[in-house]
Amino acid sequence: MLPDNKIAAQVLMPSDDNFHFAAKRLQQGKLVAFPTETVYGLGANALNENAVKNIFTAKGRPLTNPLIVHVASLEMANTLLQVDEEQQLLFSYLAACFWPGPLTIVAKAAAHIPKLLMAGGEYIGIRYPKHPIAIELISRANLPLAGPSANRSSHVSPTCAKHVMDDLGHTDLTILDGGECQVGIESTVVKINHDGHLYMLRRGAITPKMIEDVLEKSPCRQRVIRITDSHINSDVALQAPGQLLTHYAPTLPAYILSKQYFENKPCVTASSFSLAGCAVIDFCDTWSKLANHTASYIDLSKTGNAHEAAAKLFTVLRSIEKMPDITAILLPDLSHTNDDDLRTIFDRIYRAASGQFIYINRDHALLFENQVDKKSTFTVSGHNTPELLSL
Ligand code: TXA
Ligand code: MG
Repeated sequence: MLPDNKIAAQVLMPSDDNFHFAAKRLQQGKLVAFPTETVYGLGANALNENAVKNIFTAKGRPLTNPLIVHVASLEMANTLLQVDEEQQLLFSYLAACFWPGPLTIVAKAAAHIPKLLMAGGEYIGIRYPKHPIAIELISRANLPLAGPSANRSSHVSPTCAKHVMDDLGHTDLTILDGGECQVGIESTVVKINHDGHLYMLRRGAITPKMIEDVLEKSPCRQRVIRITDSHINSDVALQAPGQLLTHYAPTLPAYILSKQYFENKPCVTASSFSLAGCAVIDFCDTWSKLANHTASYIDLSKTGNAHEAAAKLFTVLRSIEKMPDITAILLPDLSHTNDDDLRTIFDRIYRAASGQFIYINRDHALLFENQVDKKSTFTVSGHNTPELLSL
């Protein structure tokens, strides 16, 4: 790390020389950020404990949160594992179905993997990304690359090189610029557990149904255990330390704008809050009436396309953070959807808002509630006209 006013990171375009330079840096234990189809990763040699430590330091990531490792072949993945026959069968089957792609598979690690990488545990998360720059970099370095999302710990994941620069510009870091990430939301994480079952630890573009469908046709006998969405109980937190509630938090207060009226709930404190200072992130044209009454209004997908919305969510959150004088971000309420892709998006939205909802009551006041701590329910007075809010 350098003093505050010094930019130490450099952005490079993917050329033969630059791949060579970046691969050398990785072999020397240094950091290289790279694009994947999901989000940008902060890469370092996964087998070098000092290099792994550099990642934790650069991100400010708690040592209790393990890193995933990126590979460029199933053979490379197998060198990192110590699994029994049945677990190997499942691992290889999932890899054959979904790699390269947005699926991270957690399984029992080989003895030579640095403990620091796994936060002291015995399991390692592995992913073969589907991005030509990531694959080329791993192949040139000929190393498995530890690679969490390349953001400051707890901040929104980066979907372009500029986002990485914004968060980690003061770090000794080379960033390979691959433009915008296509998927825009981090990979699905599953764990091949010692009890013989496959646990879904994090939602992503590979849905539970997609996994169940391929397992049904496979010789594997493991059952898929779905973790309950957005209910971060201690069991899940232990299995998936990165699934803490405020994991994708923007720097501004954020709330989910509920479509439901909210009545007969205890209201404790009054506070001043005006829609005029809010940035509204919408989905499927639900709140377009608010567009002229708020500081900013952006629809993730007017037509309700989940893939389009996923690709935009983090980019939009980061762009709002940079707007002047925004007091809060209002996010779309997708809590009632049965669509797996929308549930994945809502998982990130729920965390960005730390589980806090805003409701509109029949008197046209805005109310907000922290679902996690039911006691802190507030009445919020605003300058909202009845016509505007009788939606
Ligand atoms: O799409 C992605 O997965 C991106 C790109 C760069 O590949 N990476 C990413 O890494 O999102 P990260 O560290 O931000 O998220 C990985 C998640 C974390 O929630 C972490 O706790 C979990 O995977 N994880 C990693 N190793 C694990 C392990 N051994 N057991 C359980 N969870 C693990
Ligand atoms: Mg992350």
